[in-house]
Parts: sequence; C-alpha cells; structure tokens
Amino acid sequence: MGYRELAAAARGHMGPVCKACPTCNGRACGGGVPGPGAKGSGTVAIRNFEAWERWRLVMDTLYASDGSDPDPSCDFLGRRLSLPLMVAPLGDVHRHYGDELDDLDYNGMVLRAAKAEGTLAWTGDGLRPEVHERACGLIAGLGGAGIPTIKPWSMGAVLKKLEPALAAHPAAVAMDVDGAGLPFLRGQQPPAGPKDVAQLRELADACHGAGVPFVAKGILGPRGALKALEAGVDAIVVSNHGGRVLDGVPATAEVLPSVVDAVGGELCVLVDGGIRSGVDLFRALALGADAALVCRPVAVAAFGGREEGVRAYLAQLRAEFVDAMAMCGARGVAEVTRDMLLEA
Ligand SMILES: Cc1cc2nc3c(=O)[nH]c(=O)nc-3n(C[C@H](O)[C@H](O)[C@H](O)COP(=O)(O)O)c2cc1C
Repeated sequence: MGYRELAAAARGHMGPVCKACPTCNGRACGGGVPGPGAKGSGTVAIRNFEAWERWRLVMDTLYASDGSDPDPSCDFLGRRLSLPLMVAPLGDVHRHYGDELDDLDYNGMVLRAAKAEGTLAWTGDGLRPEVHERACGLIAGLGGAGIPTIKPWSMGAVLKKLEPALAAHPAAVAMDVDGAGLPFLRGQQPPAGPKDVAQLRELADACHGAGVPFVAKGILGPRGALKALEAGVDAIVVSNHGGRVLDGVPATAEVLPSVVDAVGGELCVLVDGGIRSGVDLFRALALGADAALVCRPVAVAAFGGREEGVRAYLAQLRAEFVDAMAMCGARGVAEVTRDMLLEA
C-alpha cells in the first residue's frame, strides 16, 4: 500500500480536524489545535512544506555504476540506521486525532514499525504521566530501539522523567526545548519553560552518565544551536514543532543551512517539518542535515494501516530516497551534497 491508499483508508477516522489529505501540506488543518494544525494563523506548517519545494534536484547520471542501488544507510549516535529518517514524536494522540488510537497503541505501532524498517521512532510526552512511562517500557522491550522525548518541565519533573527513560537504555533521550509554546501546556503543573545552558548541560550530563546520548529538539537558528553545542548535547533537531509553538517563524528548510554552518560538524544536525517524500529527505541531507524526522504523515499511515501502514510508508520513503540518490549520482549518504540542489 502506498501513502495515498493509506490516507484514503484513514480518511474520516482521524478526528474532526485532520482530513488525511493525499499530500499532508498543512492546508486543510490550518490553525486546527486541538488537532494537528499549527498555532495562530496556521501558516507555519504550510511554509515548512513549501520551503522544501523551492529546492530543485540537479540530476547527474554520468557516473560509474555496477548496477546496484545506492546505499541509504547512515550512522546515528552510534547506531546504524537503514535510512536517515526517523519517526518524530507525537503526544496526546487522542486529543489531536480522536479516539480510534490512543498514545499507547500509537507508540507501540510506530516503535515496532520503525525498528522493523531498520530505523527508530521517537515517543512524545504530554499531560498524562503514564504515557511517557509506558513508552519507556515499550522501548526497553525493543532493546532500546526508540527515543523518549521529554517536555521542558521544571528541572525536578524532568529529572524524575529521566529515570524510566534512562532505565530503558534508549538510543537517545530528547527534550523538545520549544514545547513550552504549546497552547495546551500554558498554566499547567508542573510548568514548562525555557532551559538555560547550565540546565541543559545538567540533563546532558545525566544522560551521559548512563551512557545515553541527549538531543535538543526545537532549535531554529544558529544562536540556539551554539548554546546547545556549549551545553554538550549530542544532536539537535532543527524544528519549529510543525508550527505548533509559535506563529510567524521561518520554515525549517530556510534556517537549516545556517545552523549546519554554525555548528561546523561539531554535533549531529537533524531536521523536521514538512518532509513528505524521499525527495524532501534528499533535499534535507543536501542542505546539510545528517538525518530527518517525519511526524504527521506517519500518523495518517498508522490510522490507515496500523503497524503495516507505517512500515509501508517508511519503505516508500526509502525507495524514493534511493531513487533520488541514484538519479543525482550519490552512491552513499555522504555523497549527497549541496551542489546537487538548485534554488528555484
Ligand atoms: C499532533 C502532534 C503532536 C505532537 N507531539 C509532539 C510531542 O509530544 N513532542 C515533540 O517533541 N513533538 C511533537 N510534535 C511535533 C513533531 O514531532 C514534529 O516536530 C512536527 O510535527 C513537524 O514534523 P511534520 O511536519 O512532519 O509533522 C507533535 C506534532 C503534532 C502534529
């Protein structure tokens, strides 16, 4: 089953806001929150999607080949992934997509599907503490194949949430450092908010003490990236949370090159926001990302085809990515370079 069939199967089953569109471009859901829309005007998710489209792939099929496919696998924080793409965290599934799948079902599906496809899923955190705890249990059961993502609660609350996370020996622990901007976290207990370099370092050190890498998700410019680097994080995700934390911000594709240039290879740079195809993944790598994450379309694939649907979508992305590599003359991910793109 391809993504269009999965979306057709999901249509009408994803709550009142998500229309399970054939292309998940942020237009139909707009500012629909609760729901998978974006904050305020609802335009940032659309901008994320459109910013990738501005980059054209420069074909070059004049190279020596033994007829085999290019190799899309990559290293990520000490693990080998079958492709440089992971499933992004998605919390409060029922709130945003209705009752047909709850967080536990969803996390189980994406964790198993991603592992079966040779990559990783990240799990989300929300107002119900048991969701994170159970996600950590699922990740432990999969030999650590997953990345629990913790919201930027008060330090005491985060350190408590680190306990089950580190006990799972996951591939990494992440914090969505931009999470405090979510409308439904306003005024909650414990409060969520900004973290300074010293606090981020404390969290990174706690993870490193357990032999687990630490990732800051939600960096949107060189300034934040350099602070994350100073704090000793192992990776950052260039992300605006799909437009859900602040209106009016740049698209991730717009800031990615400046972040990559600022950190100069000193830490792993991931990106998400509007990546919908293997061609988009190719664009992200060519602009300097080490790997990318995809969120909303994975939810559509899960509602449309459960675990098998997620596997099918990941396999489709891999095939599209390999096709783009072959057509642009990249035999491995390290050969995907910026000169393979032309700005429209
Ligand atoms: C309904 C919904 C829930 C989300 N929950 C989380 C979360 O719990 N933690 C997190 O770090 N990001 C969360 N995100 C953000 C995504 O992980 C991702 O950064 C964003 O959606 C951009 O990717 P996309 O354009 O592929 O959807 C959520 C996004 C959506 C749409």
